[in-house]
Amino acid sequence: MGGPIPAEALEAVRLATDIVQLVGEYVRLERRGKNYVGLCPFHAEREPSFTVSPDKQIFYCFGCGVGGNVFKFLMLLENLTFPEAVHKLAERAGIALPRFAGAGEEPKSRPEEEAWEVNALARDFFRQCLKRPEGREAREYLERRGISSYTQELFQLGYAPPGWDNLAQFLSSRGCPVKLAVDLGLLAVGERGRPYDRFRHRLIFPICNAQGRVVGFGARVLDESQPKYLNTPETPVFSKGKVLFGLHLAKGAIREKGYAIIMEGYMDVITAHQHGISNAVASLGTSLTQDQARLLSRYTRRVVIAYDSDAAGVAATVRGLDLLQQEGFSVRVAVIPQGKDPDEFIRHQGRERWNELVERSLTLLDYKLDWAVKKGEGLSAALAQVLPNLAAMEGELERQEAIKHVAARLSVSWEAVKDALRRYSAEAGKKWAKSDKNVKRVHTIVENTPLNAELLLVRLLLRYPEYLPLVQQELPGFSPHDPDLSRIYFFLCRQGNPAGWMNELGERGQDLLGYLLVEDLPLEDPARVVRDLIANLRQRARRLERERLIQELAEAERLGDEGRVQRVLSRLQELLPTGRGEN
Ligand code: CTP
Ligand code: MN
Repeated sequence: MGGPIPAEALEAVRLATDIVQLVGEYVRLERRGKNYVGLCPFHAEREPSFTVSPDKQIFYCFGCGVGGNVFKFLMLLENLTFPEAVHKLAERAGIALPRFAGAGEEPKSRPEEEAWEVNALARDFFRQCLKRPEGREAREYLERRGISSYTQELFQLGYAPPGWDNLAQFLSSRGCPVKLAVDLGLLAVGERGRPYDRFRHRLIFPICNAQGRVVGFGARVLDESQPKYLNTPETPVFSKGKVLFGLHLAKGAIREKGYAIIMEGYMDVITAHQHGISNAVASLGTSLTQDQARLLSRYTRRVVIAYDSDAAGVAATVRGLDLLQQEGFSVRVAVIPQGKDPDEFIRHQGRERWNELVERSLTLLDYKLDWAVKKGEGLSAALAQVLPNLAAMEGELERQEAIKHVAARLSVSWEAVKDALRRYSAEAGKKWAKSDKNVKRVHTIVENTPLNAELLLVRLLLRYPEYLPLVQQELPGFSPHDPDLSRIYFFLCRQGNPAGWMNELGERGQDLLGYLLVEDLPLEDPARVVRDLIANLRQRARRLERERLIQELAEAERLGDEGRVQRVLSRLQELLPTGRGEN
């Protein structure tokens, strides 16, 4: 993707992209005064607090405190890197970005790219092997399992031949350093330090990130031997708990259908897609992680879980359910009859039956209650299962209904459930309250900023830059304590377009700037407020200086340094309150 993108090109792309239009492709926006508002795509909410300013070309969410310009919006929504977002918007606007080739080596814009390239190389190798004579057994296996050649293409399936160094040879013939292949888990290192192919005589499932880059592999045996699957170990670009298998193929359908189906395994998702159930992804056998939930939340907050109905599947399901609800998802569970997995069910029963199953999927509460009742758990155990979910419900009405429902299902009184819930909420309930660290992130910055006057002054200057010279004159060395606020003030002094500064700020800085910009300060007499703030900040500076001097005085006295005592005293004299209201 080349080196850094020149600032002018960035600005051209940004100016060519209207933020209201871009956001409008993902979020239903309504005009409200000068701004547009909609339901935030980055956290679950019922009342719109996601605000887009056409004038300033920025967005900010009052619910979760995320803010930024068009680039940040696309990065967050599509899970892109900054250069990726810029390229995408450039393409959309029909702007050709200059390819920035320096004299020598073109710098990689991120280290991951090299890893993705090597993985793609390995994927191509495995694909070739599947098609060659040596891949016959694997091809027959796929055929037996009903995987069409179109689906094999779609998922880029491959075959790792037997032998210890087929891939190793291939990669070195392509100039890939052995160390890199080892770091990426393609080669393993033996006892005598000799690298060898990790995957041998196995079917290969490339695992992609949401953008379709190959980050790792799953590899299945062709018979009943063990272990059934080998996966890429944790590498700089692969972490099992951070990807969802098939997401790059499913994301469009997830948005279209408004929900995702989470399955357990590679084969489940592959079969689902082959049958047109294209909003299916897999969590790869583990119970769902918070990272996976967040990844998915870029596309939807509604999921149907369709795990295997064996015991391990159920346990994983329950953990996944709780986590998803915590993250603000609405969750249902498809219960697959007779201990089948989605792969078998869909292959044998077809898509129509599958859709019926999904329609009949249970709410989270019912699923847990069913499970508890079926296991014959005691009343208190069953109740304990559902208390976290009752506590996590957002609406009071919804909760009241659910309490009634639980009471009826467990044949206990309404008061008993309510009582248990009250006790639960008092103890553990707090950590179940929406635990999203992002929520209120900026609000906390704002509340914790030691000098609210600094924050207000910068906000005011963003709105009324004409007061900047006065501030620079009256507060010569002014530099806000908060590092991001300080950078924003620095940009202000340098002038230019605030939405363009976003590119030079970190994530927190962008959120903060979004917050400062999104709403106008309705001020009748800004000049007066500016003067008050200047006075306030000067007073504060004087007070801090006085406190510092008093400490220095004590120190000088302790050391018996008479000269220094005198100097500090005279400086303190100068700083004495003048009786004009300063202190
Ligand atoms: N898994 C794994 N390692 C194993 C077993 C399972 O990583 N030794 C993961 C794989 O991602 C697998 C998922 O758990 O896809 C679900 O496991 P399982 O249901 O056993 O596999 P299936 O995908 O159903 O595979 P198959 O139908 O071929 O048996
Ligand atoms: Mn299976």
